[in-house]
Parts: sequence; structure tokens; C-alpha cells
Amino acid sequence: MTKNILHSSKTTEWYTPPHLIELARKVMGKIDLDPASNNVAQKWIKAEKYYTIEDDGLTKIWTGNVWLNPPYGNGITTKWIDKLLEEYGSMVMPEAIILVRPAVSSRWFNTLAQNFVRCETLFRIRFIDANGTEQKSPAHGNVLFYVGKKNMGTFVEVFDRIGVISRPI
Ligand SMILES: C[S@@+](CC[C@H](N)C(=O)[O-])C[C@H]1O[C@@H](n2cnc3c(N)ncnc32)[C@H](O)[C@@H]1O
Repeated sequence: MTKNILHSSKTTEWYTPPHLIELARKVMGKIDLDPASNNVAQKWIKAEKYYTIEDDGLTKIWTGNVWLNPPYGNGITTKWIDKLLEEYGSMVMPEAIILVRPAVSSRWFNTLAQNFVRCETLFRIRFIDANGTEQKSPAHGNVLFYVGKKNMGTFVEVFDRIGVISRPI
């Protein structure tokens, strides 16, 4: 493991547990791209294509169905959400499911909430670290957004089982 990854493990090396990835796959059929990823999480995400910190997913074109659990930190999540919205607008990325913190006072969160359906989880997600160990005491709940139109109904049906669904007015 490189020094860089060790350094970032303090902040962004928390991976989505397989049971949530399966729900995303149920909605979109398959995951074509995970633009913020690593080799460990890909053992169960199994995206057709993925980018790591070395590739820098922010500099690539995103195509197909996207799964995004972006790196977080001051001013970082917002770059990923801006990129996601740019790619969604370009029409080559028809849909995405994204997993984020409930950052209700952030501009990026409010932009998503005003435009896309979301699921606020009823439980705190136990993320998985780079060694495959589950988080013991997650500090907060999470929110998943469905960015797209095609499978919005399926997203509501599937994610209603694990959280509260909210739609923009
Ligand atoms: C919160 S983790 C999510 C990983 C995986 N997508 C998942 O859902 O479990 C964010 C990942 O993005 C990676 N990352 C950080 N900066 C990146 C960049 N510029 N391009 C691609 N990946 C990046 C981190 O190393 C980390 O593995």
C-alpha cells in the first residue's frame, strides 16, 4: 500500500458494504462505472470500469450507469457532485446512484435534494475499511440519491425497504 493511500485511509478509505451495492445493482441492472474507487471495493462492486486515486476519476469522461460514493472532506465532495451533474447533463451517463453524508447545509446537498429522489437510511451504514473490517460505531446516517429518470420507480420500490424516501416538490 502506498504512502498516499495510507494517508487518505484516515479520511476516504471507507467502502460501501456489499448489501447496498446489491440494491443499487437491482435498480440499475448493472454498474458500468465506479469513478471513485480502489481494487479492494471492486471485489464486490464489480463495475465494468473503475477509476482509482491514481487514475483521477475527476479527469475522465463518465459513461453508463454510475455508482458513486465520493471521497469526502472540505471542498472535496462538492467537486464530485459538480462533476456528476456535468456528466449527467451530457447525456452519456443516463443514471447514477450516489451515497453521501446528510450534509443538509451544503450547497451540493441542497442541489441534489431539490432535483432528485433520495433515501435517508434508517440505520447507520457500517462501512468497510481497506483491510475488510466493518466499521464499529458509525457516527451518522447516510443518504442515497437516484440521479436519472429511467429507473426512478424501481429505486423508490427497492430503497423504501431500508429508509425514508423523499422527493423534490
Ligand atoms: C468513500 S471511498 C468509496 C469506494 C467505493 N467506490 C465504494 O463505494 O466502496 C472513495 C474512494 O475514492 C478514491 N479516490 C480518492 N480520490 C480519487 C480520485 N481523484 N479518483 C478516483 N478515486 C479516488 C479513494 O481512494 C477511495 O477508495
